[in-house]
Amino acid sequence: MAYVVTERCIQCRYTDCVEVCPTDCFREGPNFLVIDPDECIDCGVCAPECPVDAIVPAEEIAESERTFIGLNASLAKQWPAITTRQAPLPDAENWRDVPSKIEHLVRESVAG
Ligand code: F3S
Repeated sequence: MAYVVTERCIQCRYTDCVEVCPTDCFREGPNFLVIDPDECIDCGVCAPECPVDAIVPAEEIAESERTFIGLNASLAKQWPAITTRQAPLPDAENWRDVPSKIEHLVRESVAG
């Protein structure tokens, strides 16, 4: 099983997680990151790095967030790799405690 990026990342995208991943398994979307489950080695080093606790092991994911297991897998096939930390999204601080952000998820790749 892999680690999964969940809803709390949406509209924040702090990218602290990217910096520590030994397999470069993060993929970048316009306002969210995902983990490619085929690349993730389940090491868990990324999870404590996230300031909003968005990353969880798939086997411990909350029932309400289970949809993110499939989203990580499918979006990872569409989005480009991200391997270096970037600035958070401009409005990240205002979004970090907002619940139910999935409606704001932008799926189109930054690469077009
Ligand atoms: Fe998202 Fe947290 Fe990484 S907000 S980009 S999972 S550090």
